Amino acid sequence: MTEQSPALDNLLTESRTFPPSDEFAAQANAKADLYAEADADREAFWAKQAERLTWDTKWTTVLDWTNAPFAKWFVGGKLNVAYNCVDRHVESGHGDQVAIHWVGEPGDTRDITYAELKTEVSKAANALASLGVTAGDVVAIQLQMVPEAIFAMLACARIGALHSVVFGGFSPTALRARVDDAAAKIVITSDGQFRRGKAAPMKANVDEALEGAETVEKVIVVKRTGDKLEGEVPWTDSRDLWWHELVDGQSEEHTPEAFDSEHPLFILYTSGTTGKPKGILHTSGGFLTQTAYTHHNVFDHKAGEDVYWCTADIGWITGHSYIVYGPLANRVTQVVYEGTPNTPHEGRHWEIIQKYKVSIYYTAPTLIRTFMKWGAEIPEKYDLSTLRVLGSVGEPINPEAWIWYRENIGANKTPIVDTWWQTETGAIMISPLPGVTAAKPGSAQKALPGISAKVVDDQGNEVGPGGGGYLVLDKPWPSMLRGVWGDEERFKETYWSRFSEQGFYFAGDGAKYDNDGDVWLLGRVDDVMNVSGHRISTTEVESALVSHPTVAEAAVVGATDPTTGQGIVAFVILRGNAADGGEAAIQELRNHVAKEIGPIAKPRQIMVVPELPKTRSGKIMRRLLRDVAENRQVGDVTTLADSSVMDLISSGLKSGK
Ligand code: WT7
Repeated sequence: MTEQSPALDNLLTESRTFPPSDEFAAQANAKADLYAEADADREAFWAKQAERLTWDTKWTTVLDWTNAPFAKWFVGGKLNVAYNCVDRHVESGHGDQVAIHWVGEPGDTRDITYAELKTEVSKAANALASLGVTAGDVVAIQLQMVPEAIFAMLACARIGALHSVVFGGFSPTALRARVDDAAAKIVITSDGQFRRGKAAPMKANVDEALEGAETVEKVIVVKRTGDKLEGEVPWTDSRDLWWHELVDGQSEEHTPEAFDSEHPLFILYTSGTTGKPKGILHTSGGFLTQTAYTHHNVFDHKAGEDVYWCTADIGWITGHSYIVYGPLANRVTQVVYEGTPNTPHEGRHWEIIQKYKVSIYYTAPTLIRTFMKWGAEIPEKYDLSTLRVLGSVGEPINPEAWIWYRENIGANKTPIVDTWWQTETGAIMISPLPGVTAAKPGSAQKALPGISAKVVDDQGNEVGPGGGGYLVLDKPWPSMLRGVWGDEERFKETYWSRFSEQGFYFAGDGAKYDNDGDVWLLGRVDDVMNVSGHRISTTEVESALVSHPTVAEAAVVGATDPTTGQGIVAFVILRGNAADGGEAAIQELRNHVAKEIGPIAKPRQIMVVPELPKTRSGKIMRRLLRDVAENRQVGDVTTLADSSVMDLISSGLKSGK
């Protein structure tokens, strides 16, 4: 594959369009008039979408924006989110429909019907209640993609507890920070997880994380790897419980209680521009309305007919919104896969699609580019003819990857939906509609009906056709974040201060209009990197590096990477007489970052330098470091306090230091 970067220039010269076939358009859930309907009366439109859900008490006001930026949607309404995702499908006669085709990495499988899901979620809810968990409590979940992860999330929703799911790849330090920040009362994890054919410990890491954690009363442990895991599972009798021992004996009956539309549903931590992750808060009625609405229209999902597969992990927002809440509210039949895409072979995804006749497949550009590298002859061996909609999320998709996806996975005919959204937005915001939009490879195109987005300049004025600037959301939306956990100021400062005069939400992404007015996303404009669709802050990696005794100073940049979108490149100044900067010392630093944050944050490259480029006020000029990391001629250095620094860095690098 040639050098190509997702967010960039080549993408803006792409001019091919791919309209939906007449056949697809005719059967599509969303027709073109949806835009006009939403524009005519936004609140009436959203009220209609909220009717997708079953409410115990109907709302009195659709939107209360009087206390902006704190929104209230469907004010006065009451509902139970888990009831909406599970029980009502059983009550409407679909108890025998498979909700989840679960596929374990070693090849074990489990089909879970809606009736079984109801039983499992009810038992888990009773189990949590038996431990004293009540509405408003926080339950931290660090689990791989096992069915219990979904049962646990829905059990929390059922009793009004908030879950805080922590990605399985996060380090003990990262887990602890999240447990403490939300004062989690319960932690749910597993003994170990299968990763690339091997059993790796989970509980041992959780124990390390929880040493001295005062808020945690109980740790519930799902037995997954059992005797495949080497060594004992560390155990604290007074605190730890096996999931099966706790849950299996519980009653299968649990009456869901209706909670306020604005009752908190979950917290999910994401990286910002500072070192400390933000706990993004989502609530119930608006979140479920928009995730269900978008899942229905963007993926053209037909309950009882489609087999859907979103390859995300529940540790990220995509897993929350498009594995658990939106799809289950829409009575999906979906595949949930535990493992990596190349275990035991590089055709694993296609084999699963063939076996379960998957019709809607939603994945990330980084994985598509990996599939490209593995070669088109791999998917070619499988029957992928059931696929009818393909989705992409997480970063801008480069046109080459888009075209490859359509040709090799989509038989040159399936619509591709490139969906732009964020942990904070809760649900898809900008995306083609598969039966309506003439798709353009590389562009997320238009705000969905009911959503309003603009590209604006520094002053907040909308730019014209062909113009570029910042992406803002200029009207509130149902699944918007309701705050940053425990930090009102940070919420206002991060998202609402940049364009406070206009009251716009600042997304942190650069964007551009083409001459048709379609939106092209151009990547982050802040110090947030996007590595394989995961958000990692430069500051977070820098703090991890300087916490190592040999490092005096560190600066981190995201450099364009042909597979992962961006790769983490670190520049470090070592302490005088510490390490020599040799290969071993660099490995040690990479591992240190993995240990502090998690393997996803491991720098691709660490360069030892004698100085860092700084402005007179002491700010590190990352732009120049990015030039070095991307092997470009270094740009304008006139604002540096000492303009010879870049020469020093470059010559140091050439000499191999
Ligand atoms: C950031 C949000 C949304 C779920 C996964 C990531 C980037 C996301 C796209 C897309 C261009 C995209 C943005 C955004 N992003 N989707 N289709 N095209 N960029 O959620 O971790 O909150 O990251 O991902 O930069 O701000 P997240």
